[in-house]
Amino acid sequence: MEEASLARGFTDLFGTGPDRVWRAPGRVTVIGDHTDYQGGQSVAAAVSECVLVAARDRNDRRVRARSLTTGEDLDADVSDLVAGVGQSPSGNGPASGLRGFVSAVLVLGGRRSGADILVGGTLPPGSGLSSSAALSLALIGALSGADEPDPKWAQIAQTLENRYLGVPSGLLDQLALLYARDGYAVLIDAGRQVAEAVWFDWARAGRALLIVDTGVTRRLSETPYGERVREARQAAVLLGLPNLASARIEDVECLDETPLLQRRARHVTSENRRVGEAVKAAARGDWDTVADLMRASHASLRDDYDVSERVLDATCELFDRLGPHTGARLTGAGFGGSVIALLPIALEKAAKVALVRMYAERGFGTPRLLTLGRPAPGVQRLQ
Ligand code: GLA
Repeated sequence: MEEASLARGFTDLFGTGPDRVWRAPGRVTVIGDHTDYQGGQSVAAAVSECVLVAARDRNDRRVRARSLTTGEDLDADVSDLVAGVGQSPSGNGPASGLRGFVSAVLVLGGRRSGADILVGGTLPPGSGLSSSAALSLALIGALSGADEPDPKWAQIAQTLENRYLGVPSGLLDQLALLYARDGYAVLIDAGRQVAEAVWFDWARAGRALLIVDTGVTRRLSETPYGERVREARQAAVLLGLPNLASARIEDVECLDETPLLQRRARHVTSENRRVGEAVKAAARGDWDTVADLMRASHASLRDDYDVSERVLDATCELFDRLGPHTGARLTGAGFGGSVIALLPIALEKAAKVALVRMYAERGFGTPRLLTLGRPAPGVQRLQ
C-alpha cells in the first residue's frame, strides 16, 4: 500500500517509476540498551513503522532526492556530495539530514553515478526507534543492485554513523534491522557481531507490548551519547578489560575511587546480565520476571547511566503504578524518544487513557501510542 503510493509519488516527481524500492523497519530494544558498544547483548524487535526508499539509477552524475518524511530536497552532483561528505551545510559539526545520509552512502558504496531517490514511510526521525539505521540501510539497499540485504551492510551503516554523522554508535540497530524475522525478536551479541531469532511470544501469554513515543525528539549527535561511550571505555580501561561485557558485578566494586565511572560500568554490566535473564524467563513463559527486569533496566539507565529525562521517567512511573505484571523502560539511547511497556492486555486500554490524560495535565503534549502485536520482518527489497 505505502509502497505503491511511494512508487506513484516517485513517478509524479521524476517522470518514470523507480528501479527499486527497499523497506527498513524501526526497532524497539526490549531489553539491553547501552551494552552494544561494550561488547554486550540486547534483545530487539522490529516494528511495523518503517522507512521506504525508492530509487532509479541515472546515466549522469546528478543526484536528485526528496524526503517526504522531513520535506528536504537535494539536487547536486555526485562529486560535490562526495567532497562534502560528513560536513554540515554550515561547515560546523557533523553532517545530518538527507544530504548527510545520501553523501555517506555514495562514498561508502564507492558509487560515482547519479540517482533519483524518494524517501518516505512511517517511521518518525529522532524518536528512539532507530530511524538513522533504518534510513541508512534502506538507502544502501536502494542504491545497490542487490535483491537481498547483505550482512556486511551492518558495518557499513555503523561506519556511516560513526565516521560521518558524529555518533559513535554500536551495532545493535543495524544487526536488529538486518536479522529481524516476522514474529521473532532478535538476540544480538554485538561483541561477537552475531544475531539470532528468539521466540518472545508475549501475546500468547495475554500481554501487550505498547510503544509510547513521548514526542521528545533529539538528534543523537547533540546528546551526551558520545560522552557515555567514552566513559564506558574509560571504565573498561581502568578495570584492565577489553570491554565491560566481560566484567563481573564484583569487578565494578573496584571502581569506588571513580564513582561516576563505577555507575556507568554498573549499568553496562548489570544490563548485560539482565538480557540473559530475560531471554531465559521469556523462554519459560515467565513474563512477570521479564517485567521486573524491564523495570530494573529503566532504573539503571536513569540512575547509573543518566540517559533518561522527565517525560520518559513520568511515563515509566505511570506504568509502574499498574502493578507487578507490568514493566516499562525507555528504549534505545534515551535522552527523549520512546518508552516500551509490557502489560496485561486487560490493562492496555486504561493505561492508554491514563497516559493521554497525564501528558495533557503535565503539559507533555500528546504521546503517540502503538501496540506491537508481533515483531515485524527486517530490511527487505519490495520491488
Ligand atoms: C542507539 C545506538 C545503538 C545503541 C543504542 C543504545 O540506538 O545507535 O548502537 O547504543 O543507542 O542501546
